[in-house]
Amino acid sequence: MCGIVGYIGSEQAAPILLEGLEKLEYRGYDSAGIAVINNGEINARKAKGRLSVLKEKTNSGKDVPGVTGIGHTRWATHGEPSDVNSHPHLSNSGRFAVVHNGIIENYMALKNRLISKGFEFTSETDTEVIAHLFEYYYKGDIMDAMIKVIDRVEGSYALGVLCSDYPDSFIAVRKASPLIVGLGSGENFIASDVTAILKHTRDIYYIEDNEIVVLTKDDVKVYNIDKEEVEKEVSTVDWDVSAAEKGGYEHFMIKEIEEQPKAIRATISPRLKDGRIVLDDVSLTKDDIKGLRKIFIVACGSAYHVGVVGKYIIEKMCRIPVETVIASEFRYCDPIVTKDDLVIVISQSGETADSLEALKVAKDHGARVLSIVNVVGSAIANASDDVIYTWAGPEIAVATTKAYSTQLTVMYMLSIYMADKLSTITSGQYKQYIDDLEKLPELVAETLKNKDQIAYLASKFYNCHSIFFIGRNLDYAVSLEGSLKLKEISYIHSEAYAAGELKHGTISLIEDGTLVIALATGKELFDKTVSNIKEVTTRGAVVLGLTTEEHSMTGIADYTITIPAANPMFLPSLSVIPLQLFGYYVAAQKGCDIDKPRNLAKSVTVE
Ligand code: G6P
Repeated sequence: MCGIVGYIGSEQAAPILLEGLEKLEYRGYDSAGIAVINNGEINARKAKGRLSVLKEKTNSGKDVPGVTGIGHTRWATHGEPSDVNSHPHLSNSGRFAVVHNGIIENYMALKNRLISKGFEFTSETDTEVIAHLFEYYYKGDIMDAMIKVIDRVEGSYALGVLCSDYPDSFIAVRKASPLIVGLGSGENFIASDVTAILKHTRDIYYIEDNEIVVLTKDDVKVYNIDKEEVEKEVSTVDWDVSAAEKGGYEHFMIKEIEEQPKAIRATISPRLKDGRIVLDDVSLTKDDIKGLRKIFIVACGSAYHVGVVGKYIIEKMCRIPVETVIASEFRYCDPIVTKDDLVIVISQSGETADSLEALKVAKDHGARVLSIVNVVGSAIANASDDVIYTWAGPEIAVATTKAYSTQLTVMYMLSIYMADKLSTITSGQYKQYIDDLEKLPELVAETLKNKDQIAYLASKFYNCHSIFFIGRNLDYAVSLEGSLKLKEISYIHSEAYAAGELKHGTISLIEDGTLVIALATGKELFDKTVSNIKEVTTRGAVVLGLTTEEHSMTGIADYTITIPAANPMFLPSLSVIPLQLFGYYVAAQKGCDIDKPRNLAKSVTVE
């Protein structure tokens, strides 16, 4: 939620800031702004709407002179999207400009106090208190002011702060919101995410909570809150610049859908050695696994849907009870978690507020936390006992595809790994799973070939008002994801139901012509799902069946999508592909803004 950037060097800052913000728009896109110091004065330019509006207003930044600046792209929380609520926020004297990603929880109390001291507020945002607090505490030393400010504010923040008294530097800090520093030659950067600076440098510092960064054009110093300098290790990002570019595709979403075979391979390959799964990154021993009372899987959105798959497969393979819980529910349900439990937190961004807080609840109960994360060095990764990185590369489209698929892959590997340690599978079964796992990228590539048929089906159904997805067991888990993909980008109402449950109420919504997408890939439950399909066709539904080449839906469904046959455990990785494509093509037919759907942001750092 919200993206921040900062630049100091010899080049004109504004175009570089705008370019960086373009890469961060996935984090929020309802307004944007920049502030640049020039001749000892801060010049801020802001605009409601997409970044393109600000670009137009500033002639792509060319109209804003200066070589030191900060920028922001916003997903509104406090105060509607408007020019005045956009960041950067300035202090009353204009001496300070602040960009902020996060939420200041005690802003009302601070605001009232500042008003009583004569400060005037122009926006409805929580962030504006920070600009005024800087002014209030500033006695000539920016570092002292920063320490006082962060002592007073409660909540989460990544801040970039300009002070007109310091035209040759700027200052930044973070707590529970992401911040990285990019180290260039004769230029340095801050950003919420590496994609924003990848064009300029691959050398970065991951900033930890409460570390304060002072950047000049030739130097970056990091301090703790006692003003002691902290030694930072330089990390080198090996992502290709093109990984964060559309590269000829119309949308990031379709590019990322296409990248799935490669991404899945990148998840599997480093962890398969001589036919065995090696989880070097996990310290969970055989005895730890044997001692587990229960596993919780906690996540939000699509990551939660991976957890629903995880419950089915871990329970089946490992015979350990698994409960998959939405993170925002887990936090407040007083969960019965003990030190003998494993809590698996799944998160692409590693910064989703509810998932992070759920993780803390799990730790408070003494549970061991293993996270499945894509963004290296993110808050969730840092707070976990063990992390398995998905290595999906940057995912830009708000609707996740390759991150979901790589999370699934990790889930399979973890299940096989644990089942082996628990001896709940034989060595023959283990070998078979590994063989089948190695085939997975190829099978996903094969499934992706069916695009024309899916595009055709999308062109038939894009006018629907409501679409239902049904399935049993793993097919139900994938239905949840298929339905979410469709609704989030095409704005068509959609629900996913366990096929056997539909008749307990929701079937009353089925009428002549209602589209039901029925997943029946599993062998064991194929006939059961067919019975549920009959229930809806009898009531007028049009059925789009999704099954493997081992089954036929002729005479059962009106249309059939066929995916390759595979190890039943891994079928979710294949069945989700046509559903991602269906959502994509329906949204494309409707002319929706696919990569940036209305009201959404990719990374949700608010409760
Ligand atoms: C947002 C995104 C979803 C994502 C969810 C959880 O809602 O739009 O695609 O699944 O957050 O995000 P995370 O980064 O924790 O996986």
